[in-house]
Amino acid sequence: MPPTPRAVTLAICALVFAAPPAWADGDAAKGERVYNTQCKTCHTLDKGGRHLVGPNMHGLFGRKAGTMEGFKFSEAMIASGIVWDDKTIAEYIKDPKGRIPGNTMAFIGLKRQDQIDDVIAYLKKATQ
Ligand code: HEC
Repeated sequence: MPPTPRAVTLAICALVFAAPPAWADGDAAKGERVYNTQCKTCHTLDKGGRHLVGPNMHGLFGRKAGTMEGFKFSEAMIASGIVWDDKTIAEYIKDPKGRIPGNTMAFIGLKRQDQIDDVIAYLKKATQ
C-alpha cells in the first residue's frame, strides 16, 4: 500500500524537527575562515602570541575585558566591566562601538549571526 499523504507529511515534519537548528552552534572550521579574513590582521590567539594592533587573545573566555597583560587597552575597555563569554563576545563583535563606546578596536562589526556564531566557536577552540 502506498503511504498516505498524511503519513508523508508527518515523516517530513519528523525529519525537519529532528535536524538540529543550524544556528544553534557555530562551525569552528567556517569560523576560522571568518577569523582569518576579519580579525587576524590585528589579533593572535596562541599562548604567548604577540600583541599586534589588538591584544593576543589566549585564554579569552572567562577573562575580564582589558586585562590581558602587556597590552595598552583603552580606558573604555578597561572600565567596561565585561567578562568575555559567548554572549558578551557576540554583542561586542557585532557592534564594537555601540557595545563599548570609546573603545579603540577599529572594526565595523560582523553583521551576520552565522558568522558571529562560527567565529566564536573557532575562538573557543583556538584561545585555549
Ligand atoms: C583593526 C584591528 C582590529 C581588528 C580587525 C579586530 N580587532 Fe579586536 N581589538 C582591536 C583592538 C585595538 C582592541 C583593544 C580595544 C580597546 O582597548 O579599546 C581589540 C580588542 C578585542 C577584544 C577584547 C580583548 C580583551 O582582552 O579584552 C576582543 C574579544 C576582540 N578584539 C575580538 C575581535 C574579533 C573576534 C575580531 C574579528 C571579528 C576582531 N577583534 C577584529 C583591534 C582589532
